[in-house]
Amino acid sequence: MRFSSFIQLLAATSYARAQVPKPGVDGKYTISSSSIKAQFIPYGATLTNLFVKGKDGEDVDVVLGYDDLAFYSKDPGHPVYNSVPGRYVNRIGHGTYKLDNKTYSTELNDGNNTLHSGTNNWSYRTWNVTAATNDSITFSVRDESNSSKGMPGLVLANVTYSVDGDKWNVKMDAVSPGVKSPLMLTHHTYFNLDAYKNPDTVKIWNHTLHMPYSKRYLVADDGALPTGEIATAAPDSINDFASAPGAFLGHAQGLPGFSSNCGGGGACEGYNGYFLIDDAPADAAVVTLASAFSGIKAELRTDQPGVVIYTCNWFDGTGDLKSTQGTSENKKVVRSSCIAIEAQDYVDGINQ
Ligand SMILES: *[C@@H]1O[C@H](CO)[C@@H](O)[C@H](O)[C@H]1NC(C)=O
Ligand SMILES: *[C@@H]1O[C@H](CO)[C@@H](O)[C@H](O)[C@H]1NC(C)=O
Ligand SMILES: *[C@@H]1O[C@H](CO)[C@@H](O)[C@H](O)[C@H]1NC(C)=O
Ligand SMILES: *[C@@H]1O[C@H](CO)[C@@H](O)[C@H](O)[C@H]1NC(C)=O
Ligand SMILES: *[C@@H]1O[C@H](CO)[C@@H](O)[C@H](O)[C@H]1NC(C)=O
Ligand SMILES: *[C@@H]1O[C@H](CO)[C@@H](O)[C@H](O)[C@H]1NC(C)=O
Ligand SMILES: *[C@@H]1O[C@H](CO)[C@@H](O)[C@H](O)[C@H]1NC(C)=O
Ligand SMILES: *[C@@H]1O[C@H](CO)[C@@H](O)[C@H](O)[C@H]1NC(C)=O
Repeated sequence: MRFSSFIQLLAATSYARAQVPKPGVDGKYTISSSSIKAQFIPYGATLTNLFVKGKDGEDVDVVLGYDDLAFYSKDPGHPVYNSVPGRYVNRIGHGTYKLDNKTYSTELNDGNNTLHSGTNNWSYRTWNVTAATNDSITFSVRDESNSSKGMPGLVLANVTYSVDGDKWNVKMDAVSPGVKSPLMLTHHTYFNLDAYKNPDTVKIWNHTLHMPYSKRYLVADDGALPTGEIATAAPDSINDFASAPGAFLGHAQGLPGFSSNCGGGGACEGYNGYFLIDDAPADAAVVTLASAFSGIKAELRTDQPGVVIYTCNWFDGTGDLKSTQGTSENKKVVRSSCIAIEAQDYVDGINQ
């Protein structure tokens, strides 16, 4: 499986209203290629299922989600499951930023910071389906001025998902036709390439992760807000995924600091931070995630300058797995059992 993402900023034009495509009887929109089946719902422009072939030719659903589509909007934990947050993803430090010398205040919904634009974020909206074929679907959102506090001007966005052979493409187009406004998008997908079927471990640590162009990362404070400092990971240190192809995600589990590497007052184990992508050749695989158990490998290609890696520390084991995932012993999303890979621009870049 390959996963490319593209983000473009284009000039504004008006929307043409095409005939609205219909979901299947299961409530999902399904697109497919020779080796991938992907399913979506309009809520959050969310990917609910991503089936690829495992080493024995079986279908493996490699992303998290719920069987009960109605639960996406009700889940109090709302982990932004495989959706598109916006219009400015991730954190805005201290809920404030400046544009042309005017100071704007955004909603504090994550400690001292704004996360995913506040409580009216795009991952909580029911998007319009504006185009669909057997192998592609487009979701659109019209985000009125100040519908999220402190975000001026209308923004129009389209997100197109398509599949082609072993490739899943994510393309995002967004414009702010009226005034300057913060604009930064990502796709917030959570993976477990074993679909939680490995009887020896449901943790993500036995997946391998290689990011050959990402020696550097953003240093963050206890609330996961970058401080402005850019650090370089020493070989074999906790944040080194650049130097050893095939290194386990849990390669640093025994090192001091691993169990408090992502803030939360020292309670967050593993990763919840931003890695820069430096000097990658065009179309290079910048992130490779793989699992020997399922035989599945995912490669990310992106035009974005970096990627957030989050290893699901804050899942407390109460969330249900889909019926396509898990074993008779495990039906829950336990702590550190998945990985979110989010290609995006520098976190809080608006203030740095
Ligand atoms: C979204 O798609 C519609 C229909 O193709 C198009 O008219 C519009 O320009 C697109 N908007 C953006 C922001 O790309
Ligand atoms: C912002 O303020 C500074 C200092 O007062 C001034 O030099 C600069 O021209 C202003 N920039 C804009 C875009 O108004
Ligand atoms: C997104 O908006 C919802 C609904 O207003 C809110 O409950 C949630 O906390 C927001 N999510 C984030 C990550 O801020
Ligand atoms: C799309 O899929 C349907 C159902 O599988 C099939 O009948 C139709 O021919 C396909 N259309 C195209 C353009 O491939
Ligand atoms: C969907 O389209 C309708 C009609 O154009 C519009 O009023 C509504 O705001 C759109 N919904 C979203 C989430 O953008
Ligand atoms: C934006 O919304 C907030 C409340 O959500 C309000 O305090 C503020 O005045 C609004 N700004 C504008 C320009 O309408
Ligand atoms: C982790 O992967 C290694 C190498 O593929 C394998 O030998 C080991 O048994 C795996 N451990 C678990 C708990 O799955
Ligand atoms: C929030 O800011 C206050 C005041 O600067 C500070 O004492 C506190 O530690 C911060 N909280 C977090 C979670 O960073």
